[in-house]
Amino acid sequence: MKVGIIGSGGREHSICLALSKSSKVDQIYCFPGNAGTSQIANNIDIDLEKFDVLKNFIKLNKIDLIVVGPEKPLVDGIVDYLEKSKIKVFGPSKAAAELEGSKIFTKNLCKKYNIPTAQFGIFQNVAEAMEFIKKSKYPLVIKADGLASGKGVYICENNNEAQSAINEIFDGKFGVAKNLLIEEFLEGEEMSYFIISDGKTFKSFDTAQDHKRVLEGDLGKNTGGMGAYSPSRMINDELENKIIKKIIEPTLKGLKDSCINYKGFLYAGLMISDNEPYLIEYNVRMGDPECQTILPKLKSDLIDIFLACCSGDLENVEINWHNKKSLCVVLCSRGYPDQFNKNILIPGLDKIELKDSEYCYHAGTKEYENKVYAIGGRVLNFVSMSNNFLESRNQVLKLIKMLNWNEGFFRKDIGYKVINE
Ligand code: AMP
Ligand code: GLY
Repeated sequence: MKVGIIGSGGREHSICLALSKSSKVDQIYCFPGNAGTSQIANNIDIDLEKFDVLKNFIKLNKIDLIVVGPEKPLVDGIVDYLEKSKIKVFGPSKAAAELEGSKIFTKNLCKKYNIPTAQFGIFQNVAEAMEFIKKSKYPLVIKADGLASGKGVYICENNNEAQSAINEIFDGKFGVAKNLLIEEFLEGEEMSYFIISDGKTFKSFDTAQDHKRVLEGDLGKNTGGMGAYSPSRMINDELENKIIKKIIEPTLKGLKDSCINYKGFLYAGLMISDNEPYLIEYNVRMGDPECQTILPKLKSDLIDIFLACCSGDLENVEINWHNKKSLCVVLCSRGYPDQFNKNILIPGLDKIELKDSEYCYHAGTKEYENKVYAIGGRVLNFVSMSNNFLESRNQVLKLIKMLNWNEGFFRKDIGYKVINE
């Protein structure tokens, strides 16, 4: 069969590679993909805002299934649009994607269904928000509503920081802001918990811990993710049961009560405090780089899982995993997450020898005349899977050293909480 993947990051390359291993998949298209996906798929450069052009291409080329990687097209309603033309799509509808598209939508759902999360208030203007922060205790979390690509969240230590966060959000730094959220600061350790759902049932899709900050020791600015490891060190049966009963099930019930069936990956960003889960946020997709970290552990055929989700048959599909420790380090362009140079040659990629259980997933790369260039902030994802995190990290660092790309940088301490040196 023919499959199309929407997106161009490391997450999409890892999905593409997993699907390419299935005997049921004959051809893959990536919209637009990267230099990595071009090795195993046809990269098609289509403007993802133009749903009609995409639909015509899918119809013309008789693509059997579309998998949507990133949040933007989901929040924009790509699934509803393509399904209207009888195209099979793996991903949540526009209404379901509000879980990520609007923090306020999710917070209100949490309130109505008693889902544990930080206490919050919603403010429509600067004056109200300023009045509230006068009486607040710090740290305090201030968030823009809507998609802000991982930015738009301020952890404020004092009143001055809170004032400038409020001003920046209402000044439109993250797009036109009608509302902002002020939240209580949650103490604890973060964990990413994933499920996959067909709208009727859901199954766990493993856990991970990502490192969002740019500098070692989890310091510096927030990024899309500098690396991750899976499984999270905190997961245990009791905690998983609480996550499902207190967070996942009431969320899916809340959506159902509004006639929304959730189909796709759902990513719960959690804070774990004394073995109790609190929801920080939902993402309506796999994480990046969590996806690259988790998928190597998947034993089952990914296409069977996607197809079962589209036909409402997930209950009858087993999802099996390798009991291994996977770790991913992201190689970034110097300057990221601020300004960085583009179109920088990455020589020597062909010299990297990957063993079984080792992966080099591309993110911001482009191929031109048989050479690979860095065009994004996050460039390559190196992943290794073994019986322990230290070995996985050593293997990953060896691969990065083999490449020896002078224009890049990376964190050497990914997984430090699970690695005793
Ligand atoms: P978000 O985009 O909502 O995931 O927030 C980005 C990051 O900010 C999270 O990964 C957390 O590290 C932090 N964060 C967000 N909300 C809270 C909160 N209420 N308490 C503590 N940390 C938070
Ligand atoms: N790694 C965080 C995210 O995908 O949002």
